[in-house]
Amino acid sequence: MERLRVSGGTSLRGSVRVNGAKNSALKLMAAALLAEGRTTLHDVPSITDVRYMGELLRRLGADVSRDDSTVVIDVPEKVSHEAPYELVRRLRASICVLGPLLARCGAADVALPGGDAIGSRGLDMHIAGLRRLGASVEVEHGYVVARAPDGLKGAMIGLDFPSVGATENILMAAVLADGETVIDNVAREPEILDICHMLIGMGAQIEGVGSSTLHVQGLPGLSPVEHTTIPDRIVTGTWAVAALMTRGDITVTNGRAEDLELVLDKLASAGAVIEPGAGEDGAGLRIAMSGRPRAIDVVTLPYPGFPTDLQPMVVALNAVADGTAMITENVYEARFMFVNELARLGAEVRIDGHHAVIRGRESLSGAPVVATDIRAGAGLVLAGLVAEGETLVSAVHHIDRGYPDFVGQLNGLGADVVREPDPDRFEA
Ligand code: EPU
Repeated sequence: MERLRVSGGTSLRGSVRVNGAKNSALKLMAAALLAEGRTTLHDVPSITDVRYMGELLRRLGADVSRDDSTVVIDVPEKVSHEAPYELVRRLRASICVLGPLLARCGAADVALPGGDAIGSRGLDMHIAGLRRLGASVEVEHGYVVARAPDGLKGAMIGLDFPSVGATENILMAAVLADGETVIDNVAREPEILDICHMLIGMGAQIEGVGSSTLHVQGLPGLSPVEHTTIPDRIVTGTWAVAALMTRGDITVTNGRAEDLELVLDKLASAGAVIEPGAGEDGAGLRIAMSGRPRAIDVVTLPYPGFPTDLQPMVVALNAVADGTAMITENVYEARFMFVNELARLGAEVRIDGHHAVIRGRESLSGAPVVATDIRAGAGLVLAGLVAEGETLVSAVHHIDRGYPDFVGQLNGLGADVVREPDPDRFEA
């Protein structure tokens, strides 16, 4: 077990390149199962979640190799349909093999991933959608057991809520179903567009990409493809908030401002100067801040709303902002849990149900804290950057799940962060 020793008080300045999006790459890897042969994915982040997904695909029979940021997945004609608990429990996103396995094998046994530190995470919409496609789906002995021995049939499906995971699973099943599927109220996150573009590259017929309704004309088979993962908008947003909090000036050379419109509007209202197009070939963005940020109210919602995955960062920002802010969390009931850790740095936060009221303070003071999930971990590191003295962030393995070389990139921007063994924690 390791921890980060963050010395507060430096302002982050310079350029940084973000990796491909974790929440895209994991699903693109699962989508590779839909076609026999070699799929090549570029800009796949080097993070533990990707390693676990690679292990799962190997267990299903694929050959997975990595060279720098390119991952090659060679899928045999026959794949196993069982995703066992010992692998799935390490990575909730492994539920996204359910749709592809069912479509490819007519059967899928995928262990229930269980909850995590941000709350219980249901699968009812995944299950209802696959049933609409003609599969029998039951939850038995801790597994989702899905069967469609005669193949899947196109159907009209409406989601109660634009769930990212349900959209992906149903979409990946529908591309190999017989006939047309219409999926209404789908998630519109940029990662959904990315997977649609990859599937279209594989030959899938999908219309309505980017809208709330997808029309999918199922086909008997797809071909492997070469595809590049979109840049990670949550990591880009993390750097943007870091620039504000540390009163710095950061250019994210390949960040996509178009995927962060609402976030950047909010950060501009906190006082930041935002300059889209400041990076590579007219892409990228620069975020600069002088003076103390103003408090900003935020309501998390599915895209194009404010992403829940940046909520801990804006809570940290408001902890040192001028004024009082209200943050409303609408996606995960337990995502404010990390606030108890932030309070150890002196943040003044009151939680009332799914609202947090934060009274900004002139400064925080460094203390030992524990990262409870990836994003909470990043939020605590940002708070540590502006706290007086040293902040020790333990359980850093959570941060490793989503931020490749976080420490190297922080220090490249002028931070003083050291990764070291954590003498107080042992692997369970
Ligand atoms: N939900 C249900 N039933 C369902 C599906 C979802 O109740 O059938 C609920 C969940 O319990 C949750 C909410 O709906 O409260 C949102 O779930 P969604 O399916 O949209 O999210 P997800 O696919 O489980 C992905 C990301 C999350 C990100 C959310 C929202 C991956 C691997 N994970 O999760 O990322 O917060 O979309 O944008 O893509 C992270 O990266 O830190 C992270 C948690």
